[in-house]
Amino acid sequence: MKYLLSESVRHFSLPNIRVERKIFADGEFYLRLLDDVKNKDVTIISNILASNILELFLLVDAVRRAEGTVVRMIIPYLGYARQDKIFLPGEAVSGAVVCSLLRQLNIPVVAYDVHSSELFQYLPFDHKSVLPCLVKRLPKKKYAVIAPDHGGVERARMVAALLKAPLQVMEKKREGYSVSITFTGKISGKTALIVDDMISGGATVIKAAKAALSHGAKEVIAIAAHGLFLSDARKKLEKSPISRILVSNTLPVKAGGKIEVVDVSELVEKSVFTR
Ligand code: R5P
Repeated sequence: MKYLLSESVRHFSLPNIRVERKIFADGEFYLRLLDDVKNKDVTIISNILASNILELFLLVDAVRRAEGTVVRMIIPYLGYARQDKIFLPGEAVSGAVVCSLLRQLNIPVVAYDVHSSELFQYLPFDHKSVLPCLVKRLPKKKYAVIAPDHGGVERARMVAALLKAPLQVMEKKREGYSVSITFTGKISGKTALIVDDMISGGATVIKAAKAALSHGAKEVIAIAAHGLFLSDARKKLEKSPISRILVSNTLPVKAGGKIEVVDVSELVEKSVFTR
């Protein structure tokens, strides 16, 4: 299994524009196209990660100067999307900044499983999901689909509809210093399927899994579009009561242990050929 970006290029049998990249001693980034793009329609497929946004702008500039047309940008994983509003006074809304910058390029953008629909006001994405691909890989069971928070309800609803399973939302109630977790419906005797946009440190799905089991779920499976698995997340997930974890290959994730990686390049291929 390869990382989606290279995997998808290989699948498409489309010419791949080679790019030379280097970083100067002062830290400045340099980029040059090594193939001719004159009068060609170019699709850029790139994640937005912590520090590559400038690279994307340089790439678009290089294509345009070489008289090619960037017809669309496909963003399998849009970073910064979790900062979609101000949580603490004085913060920047990084997600809004990134989306507004991308909008200035005036290129149609296709993005997958963006953390927050709040961001659609800054950049009108053609928004798609890899979750149906993951759902196809699930064993047949009696599921109760769980949204681990209210922000993820629409995503989980879509999965519940595909599985024709009930949707339950995990609710956290604070009473003084204690936090109690309940679900909006019964999950007892069912396989709890936790649905999220990403697994980062793993705390969200682990907490939801423990709560589901304590409310009578038979077992817990988790699916998420993007697998970041930061710091010791993999270790924590292996020790957790979750039996299987399915993520896509929008990010370079290695399968292993409980983690299964589903190749979704087929979906990206469709975005390249659909106008
Ligand atoms: C939060 O709102 C997101 O949808 C994910 O639930 C969260 O980012 C997952 O992070 P972690 O795996 O660190 O709990």
